[in-house]
Amino acid sequence: MRWRPFGSTGLTVSDIGFGCARIGGVFGSGSGTSSDTIALLRRAQDAGINLFDTADMYSQSESEALVGRAFSGMRSQVVIATKGGYCLPAQKRLVSRIKPLLRPIVRALGIKRENLPASVTGSLSQDFSPDHLVAAVEASLKRLGTDHIDLYQLHSPPQSVIESGDWREPLERMKAAGKVRFYGIACDTVQDAGACLKIGGLSSIQLPFGLLDLEASAGVLAEAERLGVAVIARGCFGGSLLKPSLTEVELKEKTEKWATVMALRETAKRNRRDLLEMALQFSLASPGVSVTLLGMRTEDHLRQNLEFLAGSPLTEAQLADLREAR
Ligand SMILES: NC(=O)c1ccc[n+]([C@@H]2O[C@H](COP(=O)([O-])OP(=O)(O)OC[C@H]3O[C@@H](n4cnc5c(N)ncnc54)[C@H](OP(=O)(O)O)[C@@H]3O)[C@@H](O)[C@H]2O)c1
Repeated sequence: MRWRPFGSTGLTVSDIGFGCARIGGVFGSGSGTSSDTIALLRRAQDAGINLFDTADMYSQSESEALVGRAFSGMRSQVVIATKGGYCLPAQKRLVSRIKPLLRPIVRALGIKRENLPASVTGSLSQDFSPDHLVAAVEASLKRLGTDHIDLYQLHSPPQSVIESGDWREPLERMKAAGKVRFYGIACDTVQDAGACLKIGGLSSIQLPFGLLDLEASAGVLAEAERLGVAVIARGCFGGSLLKPSLTEVELKEKTEKWATVMALRETAKRNRRDLLEMALQFSLASPGVSVTLLGMRTEDHLRQNLEFLAGSPLTEAQLADLREAR
């Protein structure tokens, strides 16, 4: 594993971070039981991954609880990044209470999250008020079983909230109390990330960046680096769009970027390299990226991603080839 400074925080993080959005939950981490997921997280840490990115709303808060259980007793060896600002709808709060009953039914019937109507899953709302943020930090600390969160992130706030700066006072208060070491903002768009850099005083920004999301390279990465703000890049596999298992028909249904994906596949084939490996190496080679998050939920994901990480860096010719495919 290689290490990088995390902006100007003084923290050192691994090249890749573990995205914990899909561990736990009714629709299942592919790795099965909670103990399997805890073993997966520990194996990732054993392999040198030290940054784990979770959120209070992932898997109705179970993701945070699993991270907490995995690293109790080895707290100083991991950098725990979590997020707050979403409110769980009543349906999801109910699900979290009856999860052990629901899980086998969902698995037996093969029900998929994306096939459920919003009336069943409930719609999410957001709250970045000082009262909500303070309560959210306290609740995350409890679930994570720790007395401090290394990085607390506002979870996808709209630009108006970013610019209001109303969240700063409660987060500074949590920082002064030692409950949060650093805080940042997890953004949905490059424009929001730009707004974060303008407002200043943040330790990190998180944003989508990769072969299918190159907008950030236009200036945000360089500006963040200049300011000493750490960048957490996510979505380097394009969510799941770069996965080889998707057929052309499926791609056309899923994304208007399907032609770019097909061109990138051709590029990888010409270079006799795996496209996912190229996508990861592209993110690793991008100046300004502090850590590349990979969303993992199975042992296979972890094993393959470690292999991709160990792959050779992209040559100048391969980089040019990838740029041309876009
Ligand atoms: N607003 C926010 O703050 C926000 C939003 C999104 C994500 N995040 C964070 O970023 C993390 C990563 O998100 P993401 O968008 O990159 O990914 P993701 O949504 O977690 O999904 C990762 C995708 O990559 C696939 N994958 C991972 N390793 C693979 C491998 N070795 N081979 C083939 N497929 C592989 C997964 O496949 P399967 O389909 O097989 O699972 C999945 O489709 C999340 O876990 C979360 O921590 C934050």
